[in-house]
Amino acid sequence: TDRYCVFGNPISHSKSPLIHTAFAAQTGEALEYTAIEAPLEDFAGAWQRFVAQGGCGANVTVPFKEEAFRLCDTLSQRARRAGAVNTLLLGKNGLTYGDTTDGVGLVRDLKHHGVVLEGARILVLGAGGAVRGVLEPLLATRPKSVFIANRTAAKAAALAADFADLGVIQGGGFDAVVGPFDLVVNGTSASLSGELPPLPDALFAPGASAYDMMYGAEPTVFLRWAEARGARVIDGLGMLVEQAAESFFLWRNKRPETGQVRAALRRELE
Ligand code: ATR
Repeated sequence: TDRYCVFGNPISHSKSPLIHTAFAAQTGEALEYTAIEAPLEDFAGAWQRFVAQGGCGANVTVPFKEEAFRLCDTLSQRARRAGAVNTLLLGKNGLTYGDTTDGVGLVRDLKHHGVVLEGARILVLGAGGAVRGVLEPLLATRPKSVFIANRTAAKAAALAADFADLGVIQGGGFDAVVGPFDLVVNGTSASLSGELPPLPDALFAPGASAYDMMYGAEPTVFLRWAEARGARVIDGLGMLVEQAAESFFLWRNKRPETGQVRAALRRELE
């Protein structure tokens, strides 16, 4: 049986084994998918050991995406842009190929929810690894404009400059945010601590959507704030399932149907 896993630290709460096991059952692929806690100081060693034990590929999550990027022999264009890898694939030649499917996952989930991206005015909150990882696929949908707002304004400006060849994109501090926007994506880790970036009240255009890359049993502070201001709110559960489906496709060349897994995960959360 072909072996796959997700590496993280911590990893015990990962939904990836459940998702990929469901994808395998649905597509009739014989594979085993487990969660492995890699040591913080030796991610490369964990991957090598897994390969030695018959591993064919892996997902990579916090805090190893940048380290995974560094160990790859070859990289997809979007992974090179992201500077991070969430999908490892062992080639027949024994070389490690790295890709990142987070951005495709976000875009697929937005489309799944009927959010129109082409021509949209998009605000992205945060300028860390999570945001860098999704910018290329987001810009590929041809939005009207993207503004990156971050607590550390210089980081947002630098990030925007890195992607300026792909579309109309600018960055700055939260005080530089001028709405209205058709879509606001929260990619900060502020939700984790229940905090909300300082944002103007008049942020959303009529019919606008608010998306949080995080998810949980309860809506995040950001989504509650957005809902109170009239936005349609979507959490990051679908992004998790869609990025997984894209990784599965890279490994097995089969595209799983994501609806059932979405529904199962949602039920499990409640
Ligand atoms: P990740 O991989 O989740 O993107 P990261 O690269 O450490 O993690 O980036 C975290 C992001 O969340 C950054 O944009 C950070 O803002 P700074 O660049 O100013 O540090 C943002 N962030 C974290 N905690 C925050 C808070 N309490 N309020 C606002 N932004 C916060």
